Amino acid sequence: MRAIEIRNKYLNYFKAHGHKIIPSSPLIPENDPSVLFNTAGMQPLVPYLLGEPHPEGKRLTDYQKCVRTNDIDEVGDNRHLTYFEMLGNWSLGDYFKEESIKMSFEFLTKELQIPVEKLSVTVFAGDEDCPRDEFSAKCWKDAGILDGHIYYYGKDDNWWIAGETGPCGPDTEMFYDTGKPACSENCQPSCDCGKYVEIWNNVFMEYFKDEKGYSKLKQQNVDTGLGLERMTMLLQGKETPFDTELFKPVMDKLFELQKIDIIESRRIIAEHLRSSMMIIADGGRPSNLDRGYVLRRLIRRMIRQMNKLQIDLNELSTLIDLNVDNLSEMYPELEKNRENIKQVIIEEKDKFVKTLSHGEREFEKEVNKLKAQGKDIIEGKIVFRLYDTYGFPPEVTKDLATENGMKISMEEFDKLFKEHQEKSRAGSEQKFKGGLASTGEMETKYHTATHLLNAALKQVLGSHVHQRGSNITAERLRFDFSHDAKMTDEEKKQTEDLVNKWIKEAIPVEKLEMKKDEAIAMGAEAMFIEKYGDVVSVYKIGDVSLELCGGPHVQNTSELGVFKIKKEESSSSGVRRIKAVLIA
Ligand code: ALA
Repeated sequence: MRAIEIRNKYLNYFKAHGHKIIPSSPLIPENDPSVLFNTAGMQPLVPYLLGEPHPEGKRLTDYQKCVRTNDIDEVGDNRHLTYFEMLGNWSLGDYFKEESIKMSFEFLTKELQIPVEKLSVTVFAGDEDCPRDEFSAKCWKDAGILDGHIYYYGKDDNWWIAGETGPCGPDTEMFYDTGKPACSENCQPSCDCGKYVEIWNNVFMEYFKDEKGYSKLKQQNVDTGLGLERMTMLLQGKETPFDTELFKPVMDKLFELQKIDIIESRRIIAEHLRSSMMIIADGGRPSNLDRGYVLRRLIRRMIRQMNKLQIDLNELSTLIDLNVDNLSEMYPELEKNRENIKQVIIEEKDKFVKTLSHGEREFEKEVNKLKAQGKDIIEGKIVFRLYDTYGFPPEVTKDLATENGMKISMEEFDKLFKEHQEKSRAGSEQKFKGGLASTGEMETKYHTATHLLNAALKQVLGSHVHQRGSNITAERLRFDFSHDAKMTDEEKKQTEDLVNKWIKEAIPVEKLEMKKDEAIAMGAEAMFIEKYGDVVSVYKIGDVSLELCGGPHVQNTSELGVFKIKKEESSSSGVRRIKAVLIA
């Protein structure tokens, strides 16, 4: 059975059992900035699980597009995916355990024709928060699950909640026996040796968890989730989802294009390509923050693997076409966005290629220095600088290091990376010192644009130009500088052109820590030099700009878009003011 047939069977089965088919929500949650992507079918339904009436009634079914990134590093093995499709059915305070279990059993054994011997189920063992679920076990037995095929587990296995707080409850999971030999006498569904594969999860959502603990919801809900790719693989008797029709055409093409044969790399490319395409079709764009960063990482990991297999990056367009042709029957949005998807992926590829070549040059410099000192370990802070400044993934540094007979210190990198992540998480709420506004993605861009503007004005108007003030919002930058004549149209145009030229050149923005005296000696620009402590942060943008600053800044000027001066006016005597914007 093809994936689309399984999907249709599922939706039709539940339709025939009184459920309304509702459309998949986009991958990017519509009203929920707290999650990056929908990770389960229940996510868009939370208000209704909590009691709000759903316009389509109390029984719903759908397929939901999901992205989960916690296991992104595992992709390449025989089972992990970042994008997947979850089939689900819901009772919003309507049927509960008995009917839910009956329907699941019937769907698996009658509609999908899975022999009952191949099925095992697990139920909640009970604890101080919620009693042992003997009722569900009895329902399974009555439905026809064989003796010895019902297991009881605790919260780790048989309790479901999305994240830390929210609607939740005990669940019952269905497992498929692949027929592989048991790994030991104790082999059971909870074992991850591969004999048992989880195929469906029915959550009996009647609790709510907050910081204080569990309470009962006002209604008893059922929330189920069945992973389509996995079911497709099992029903087709394949070893991995990559052997099903969902991935096969791209996998075969990669095999044909590759010069080096690494199956894990082909899987990563095929997986990340599909995920990126789905995210872009739902409006996602690469950036350095949150969702955008996940997409950027997916595309970059894919490109790196293509390089590893020595596949010409120009083949991306062929691969995208192939995937659109293959998957549009399931996801018509891919066909609608074919050109758009190509453009976004190819632009990101071009940026990354530049990043890689800058990073490689920088890597060589560092390695030569270390070699001259007789060292063979690249310190974590260098690995981190390559990552932070050049967007150079630590895995790339590691590969290059190995090729150069060197090792890298990942421990220190991991520590710095954690600190960085915590900072950026805190960053969205943090107010920026000195009367500047909060530091979102746009503000960050404007900070960097301000440095470029300062540098451009010096070139166009003369070295007497210095910053006299700056104010940044998400909508614009405002920059006051020393100059005592109105700028001509020609001067404004030259300034804009210069900034846009630097943006096009995709120059890395580098953060350096140094003694204040050293920074002054290097000619770093600073507005209130006396305000700074002994050790200062200096932002270096290639040969264009060197400026003392607390940041934050983008990693590369190419992220800025198009720079446009909106207004130039007098601010006070001998001081002019420019307002400028970045257009995406
Ligand atoms: N929400 C449940 C899950 O994701 C069904 O497993």
